[in-house]
Amino acid sequence: MTTMESLIGMVNRIQRACTVLGDHGGADSALPTLWEALPSVAVVGGQSSGKSSVLESIVGRDFLPRGSGIVTRRPLVLQLHKTEDGQQEYAEFLHLPKRKFNDFSLVRKEIADDTERITGRSKQISPVPIHLSIYSPNVVNLTLIDLPGLTKVAVEGQPDSIVQDIENMVRSYVEKPNCIILAISPANQDIATSDAIKLAREVDPSGERTFGVLTKLDLMDKGTNALDVLEGRSYRLQHPWVGIVNRSQADINKNVDMIVARQKERDYFATSPDYSHLSSKMGSEYLAKLLSKHLESVIRARIPSITSLISKTIEELESEMDHLGRPIAVDAGAQLYTILELCRAFDKIFKEHLDGGRPGGDR
Ligand code: GDP
Ligand code: NA
Ligand code: MG
Repeated sequence: MTTMESLIGMVNRIQRACTVLGDHGGADSALPTLWEALPSVAVVGGQSSGKSSVLESIVGRDFLPRGSGIVTRRPLVLQLHKTEDGQQEYAEFLHLPKRKFNDFSLVRKEIADDTERITGRSKQISPVPIHLSIYSPNVVNLTLIDLPGLTKVAVEGQPDSIVQDIENMVRSYVEKPNCIILAISPANQDIATSDAIKLAREVDPSGERTFGVLTKLDLMDKGTNALDVLEGRSYRLQHPWVGIVNRSQADINKNVDMIVARQKERDYFATSPDYSHLSSKMGSEYLAKLLSKHLESVIRARIPSITSLISKTIEELESEMDHLGRPIAVDAGAQLYTILELCRAFDKIFKEHLDGGRPGGDR
């Protein structure tokens, strides 16, 4: 791993340890501030625009409930942790800390089951997030957040307030300045009606943290194409638009796997008369790379403030440890200790490899 990779990985693990700890510390504690300082990526868009599908493609695994109607009903905070080559992939939920999931179809089932545990079987939503970590040699270190889709009307079984409730929930994530917005719009609807772009424009008017993603290119009417959007003429963003072809519902029903789906997506762009000239900058794999590159630059820019927060956290935790002794048996104490160890490790890597606040040693 590069130094940058291990620093981002470390930041990811600190973020997770802070999550496990919950709302620890008072208003002037460095811990919540540390969480807030770390970037995450949230998907925003209308219902069934392809949000969960895009996240799955970025991860390269099938594990999210997807489909028509309201499927994602609670925020899913998904942390990807890159492990050393050859390690077996596994997933772990915050609410089931002792269980390692090797079978990703069981991950999907647990997300659905835990959603129901909180919301019931109805079409209700809940702002209580599900926290999931995936450990794999094939991912980039990233925190991704899947959110319920924006809607226009309540359907049977939903309260009238649901439209506003969903928007408020989504907004609470994307208004944070450290949140990178994946604004998902389906290509078979007019971009002028995109809920994703509307909300992104409100919370990020300059577009510096918004990535426009256009899904369902394969479902456009014959004789039309999305070049005006993809080439930035319809709606200009600071970052380039990325077009995506996810699995269709028929593919999902047939269990078309991720490797096959990615190959199909690559072939789609490579052979498309409309998009072949853009093919190297289209597709889910390209999007994943673009995001991790962006994340890296954001973290790089924040390294001075993150390291100073980390030093502050270390000091704070050390003095707390002095009060508590070393309470390994006590959950909160053990978590604090974990965070302290992670912060020390971060500090050490940072000092060893990156000279004088000018990061980028081994690149
Ligand atoms: P979400 O509600 O925004 O999370 O959307 P999902 O990822 O659950 O997808 C909704 C439906 O649209 C599913 O049936 C997907 O198979 C389908 N879908 C998503 N993206 C595409 C795409 O690029 N092409 C096609 N043909 N279908 C897609
Ligand atoms: Na859906
Ligand atoms: Mg979804």
